Amino acid sequence: MSKKMQPIAVFDSGVGGISVLRELRKILPNEDYIYYGDSKNAPYGMKTKEEVCALTIDAAQYLFKQGAKGLVVACNTATSAAVRTLREMYPDIPLVGIEPAVKPAATLKPNGRVLVMATPMTIREEKFRKLMARYEDMADIIPLPCPGLMDFVERGDLESEDFRRYLEELLFVHRIHPVDSVVLGCTHYPFAKTLIKEILGPDVEVFDGGEGTAREMKRRLAEADLLNERQETGTVYFQNSLEDEKKIQLCEWLLNL
Ligand code: DGL
Repeated sequence: MSKKMQPIAVFDSGVGGISVLRELRKILPNEDYIYYGDSKNAPYGMKTKEEVCALTIDAAQYLFKQGAKGLVVACNTATSAAVRTLREMYPDIPLVGIEPAVKPAATLKPNGRVLVMATPMTIREEKFRKLMARYEDMADIIPLPCPGLMDFVERGDLESEDFRRYLEELLFVHRIHPVDSVVLGCTHYPFAKTLIKEILGPDVEVFDGGEGTAREMKRRLAEADLLNERQETGTVYFQNSLEDEKKIQLCEWLLNL
């Protein structure tokens, strides 16, 4: 099989990376995808950097063994822990990570208040500190660790009263001192976007890094002359470390929401 026909691998700690896969399929619809979620070991955001790095390397090896021509690390937490190591291990393979979309949020309004929702690990890491330092002259950046948020999405619980209450408490800061924009710095969170927007109101802009990541993958594949040139729509093959059929059904549901 020509290398161009091989699938693109998309990896996340669970089902969250499907928010990135949805963007990939919009701009690269003719590609085939293998999506691997490591729900058995999730949440990554509550682990150490070393643990997440080791799990991400294992997942990448597993996906390359299946013939992936490129890899999207569709998890902010795994990106901050492992993307640099992965690039050293696989210098010739198109490999793209995701990071919180702070730039568009920080440049939206001079001296605006930007709330960055992410996992505890992402916020602790040096990669995020550096990202914050780059924009702190332009905006007031407020990191908000969200332990527990991804668990609702992993259960497919996107509209319950419990979830609304959890988010209302989490976003209480906005009621005391309103923010201008919110960055969804974890790939699970775009699935909570409707509720988050309802709670924050219409004046708050909400950003995530999914589309930018998909665009970057397209650019990298084009550079390596690896874009699939066929005309038909490609396929998506879901795998999950839990090996539970219900998880695969949830993946399909989230893809087609
Ligand atoms: N989806 C992952 C991210 O983008 C995090 C979820 C987890 O804690 O495992 O950061």
